[in-house]
Amino acid sequence: MNVKITGTGSALPGKILTNADLERLVDTSDVWITSRTGIKERRIAVEGEYTSTFAAEAARRALAMAGAQPEEIDLIILGTVTPDFPFPSTACIVQDLLGATNATAFDLSAACSGFIYGLSIAENYIRSGSAKKILVIGSEVLSRIVDWQDRNTCVLFGDGAGAVVVEATEDTDCHTLLSTHTFSNGSHWNLLYQQGSGSRNPATDRRTIDEGRIYLAMEGNDVFKHAVRGMEEAAVKALDANGLTTSDISLLIPHQANQRIIDATAKRLGLDANRIFINLHRYGNTSSASIPIALDEANRQGRITPGSNLLMVAFGGGFTYGSALVNW
Ligand code: UT7
Repeated sequence: MNVKITGTGSALPGKILTNADLERLVDTSDVWITSRTGIKERRIAVEGEYTSTFAAEAARRALAMAGAQPEEIDLIILGTVTPDFPFPSTACIVQDLLGATNATAFDLSAACSGFIYGLSIAENYIRSGSAKKILVIGSEVLSRIVDWQDRNTCVLFGDGAGAVVVEATEDTDCHTLLSTHTFSNGSHWNLLYQQGSGSRNPATDRRTIDEGRIYLAMEGNDVFKHAVRGMEEAAVKALDANGLTTSDISLLIPHQANQRIIDATAKRLGLDANRIFINLHRYGNTSSASIPIALDEANRQGRITPGSNLLMVAFGGGFTYGSALVNW
C-alpha cells in the first residue's frame, strides 16, 4: 500500500507580537532578535484560544482540501508539548470538535519533531493496513509555557497549528510519501525541556511556581549545534534511502527555529537559499506546528512543483529529530 498527502491546512492566532512589542517587555532589541534568529514577529493565542482550537481549524482546512469528511478519518495523531490538559489527550478533544466519530485519537510527545514522528506513525499504520485515512496535526500554544521575563527564550516562540490528511492509495502519481526517518538521543533531554507541571515539579506543588520551575528552559547554544548536525543526518538518511542526492530536491522545508540553524544546515547539504521555504520571520518557532504550517503555505502558494521531491527535516527537545521525503 502507498501513502499519499491529500490535504494540508494551517491555523494561526490573529494576535501579532512584534520585536518592537518585545522591546517593551524585556531587555532586547529588534536588531538582536533579527540578526541572531531571523524572527520579526510571532502569533500569540488570546483568551479562549487553546491548542485544540488551532488544531481543529487546521484539520478542517486540510480535510476540505482533501475532500474528506470527518467521519472518514480512522486515526488522529496530534504532536504537541502544550496540550490543553495533561489528560485527556488534546487529540480526543479535536476528535470531538471535528465530529471525527470513527477515529482513534492520541497525542504524541516529540517536541519540535512531533509532526515528522506523526507522519512516520501514519505511514506505518497505512503500510500495515491498520488505517486508511489519517489526520496528522502539529499544534502548540507555547506562549503559555515560556517565561515572559526571560529574554533568552521568550523572543523565540509562537503559537499555531498545521495539519495534513494522509491516505492509503494504490497509485504513485502525486503527493506520494516516499519515506520517513526518526531518531532520538535522550542523553541531552535536559538541554531543552519544560521544567514544571509533570511528576518531577508538579503544578500542584506551590514551590514549582514560587521558585520559577514551571517554564520552558533551553541551553540555546548547545541545542543550536546539535540541531545543525541532527537535521543534516536526518536529511542525508532520507536521500540515501531513496537513492537521491541534494540536487534531486526541489524544496526543503526545515523546522523553523532559527535562520542561522537553517543556513548552516543548508550549507552542509549544499542547498541554495531559493530551494528552502522559510516563514520563521512571521511566526517564530512553533515547535511541532512549524513544518505543517510551512508545508501548507508552500502548497497554497504553489511553491512545490508537481512531480518534484520535497524534503522535510525536524529537530527538537528530547533530542528528537527526523525527516520525510515526498514526491509531490
Ligand atoms: O526548536 C528546537 C530547537 N531550538 C532551537 O533550535 C534553538 C537553538 N538555539 C538558538 O536558536 C540560539 O542559540 C539562540 C537564538 C537561542 C541564542 O543565540 P546565540 O547566538 O546562541 O546567543 P547566546 O545564547 O550565545 O547569547 C549571546 C548573548 C548573551 O549575552 P552575553 O552573555 O554574551 O553578555 C545573552 O545574554 O546574547 C544575550 N541574549 C540576548 N540579548 C538581547 C540572549 N537573548 C537575548 C535577547 N536580546 N533576546
